[in-house]
Amino acid sequence: MKNKSTTTPKKKSASNTTNTGTRNSNISSGKDVKEKDDSLEKFFLDQLKDIYYAEQKILNSLPKMQEAATTLELMYAFEDHLHQTEKHVRRLEKVFQMLGVRPEGKKCEAMDGIIREAEETIEETEEGTMTRDAALIMSAQKVEHYEIATYGGLVQFAITMGLHDAADVLEKTLLEEEDTDMLLTEIAENDINLAADHEGKQFSWEKQQQETNA
Ligand SMILES: [Fe+2]
Repeated sequence: MKNKSTTTPKKKSASNTTNTGTRNSNISSGKDVKEKDDSLEKFFLDQLKDIYYAEQKILNSLPKMQEAATTLELMYAFEDHLHQTEKHVRRLEKVFQMLGVRPEGKKCEAMDGIIREAEETIEETEEGTMTRDAALIMSAQKVEHYEIATYGGLVQFAITMGLHDAADVLEKTLLEEEDTDMLLTEIAENDINLAADHEGKQFSWEKQQQETNA
């Protein structure tokens, strides 16, 4: 099932391109947004730095998740996403460049926490098990959902501010994050979750419930 962000971008309408006024003229001309007094533009830049930091954090963590995975299917999915993430970093640098701002990350406590939790998952599950993969997929989807929410918001802000070229670049990444999320759901639902459930049969919620009801 496709997980939808609350900020999934809407198609750009004609009014988006014409009704931008002059409020973004300084961004378009490449002046440093930090000097501006416009809070949406400041917040946009702040979130751009947040996701730039987050992407690099993910880039660092994906090889560990790939190495820890049990199935080849999940290993390949992580490997593909690693290459995509390198592209995402480059796209963000392009957006910074469009704004005339030096690419810079800002510590993202949320992504630090999600990644820490993902790495704990590796320690808490047994190597070579399907439970390990099921847990890794859940962790990876937490990462994806954070990214989808952030990119979804950034695309909308960019459209609102008339930064259509930036919106197009950010939307490419948003669509790839959504595809990755769907692929992970498919991998989990096709066989990994079921196999993980079977391997843990020494403890069964079902059995416990039957005993309680007896
Ligand atoms: Fe990404």
